[in-house]
Amino acid sequence: MKKTSNKVVLIGAGAVGTSFMYSAINQGIASDYVLIDAFPQAAQGNALDLADTMAVLPVPFTSIKAGDYSDCGDADVIVITAGRPQKEGETRLEMVAGNAVIMKSIAEEVKKSGFKGITVIASNPVDVLTLVYQEVTGFDQHKVIGSGTTLDSARLRRLLADKLNVGAESVDAFLAGEHGDSSVAVWSHASVMGQPISKYIADGTITQADLDQIREEAVHMAYKIIELKRATFYGIGVCLAKIVKAVLRNERTTLMVGAKLNGEYGNKDLFTGVPAIIGQNGWEAIIEWNLTENEQNLFNQSCATLSTTIAKARE
Ligand code: LAC
Repeated sequence: MKKTSNKVVLIGAGAVGTSFMYSAINQGIASDYVLIDAFPQAAQGNALDLADTMAVLPVPFTSIKAGDYSDCGDADVIVITAGRPQKEGETRLEMVAGNAVIMKSIAEEVKKSGFKGITVIASNPVDVLTLVYQEVTGFDQHKVIGSGTTLDSARLRRLLADKLNVGAESVDAFLAGEHGDSSVAVWSHASVMGQPISKYIADGTITQADLDQIREEAVHMAYKIIELKRATFYGIGVCLAKIVKAVLRNERTTLMVGAKLNGEYGNKDLFTGVPAIIGQNGWEAIIEWNLTENEQNLFNQSCATLSTTIAKARE
């Protein structure tokens, strides 16, 4: 009997969380939505505001409300965006102390609720906090997904597409590793409609210096947006909706999510951005590319950076 309803619980009704929910509602991703926030009025106000879309949207949902952890037990997916937002000029890794405390508290409450579904996490530093959550809940690692470098890769694709004057949907380009300053541009696997990027370098369309510039721009995009408007939320909101849709519809699509390494890419015991297959069981498999020596070295450095911060989160 095909399941006809899907329940999504959002923990963190701030700008990121509600941008996710607005995107999910507009795509008709789930039937029932619950918002949980440390400030109940934020959950209540956003639930009422989002409910106003119900009578207008072409794909109506069944229910939306402000709730609490008792609403998690029968949820299909929990999305966690709670935590202090990044300050101007602050790195995501510098946010670990306060946000790890919040994440541990959330993890304990979700564990107590009897939740058995899939968790998708965007709270920063997301790679570290995804591991904290998985360790505290004890949930199967495959059922805990970090937003990883989905947004980073989306930025890289857009910037490369602009440079090559093609549609971004035709560009495959990936940042892997930390969702942050040490992420690695995997140019060896970048292509435009199957045409490897090396072809565009060989014929002079683009130079390695152009690619390096594009990576720098993508990696520092959040800082630029925060400087201009104090926060980022639309890009990550849409990325979260894409991950949740892949889970609820069992799409088995491939995304650069935060999955747990158990030796893949020569690293283990951490969540970080790698290509993975996403379906009803969470991140179902990691795709192992053959990286160039330089890419592998940079990836190892990114994982080492995360491991240092993981140690701090465990203090
Ligand atoms: C950004 C936030 C989600 O990169 O870390 O916009």
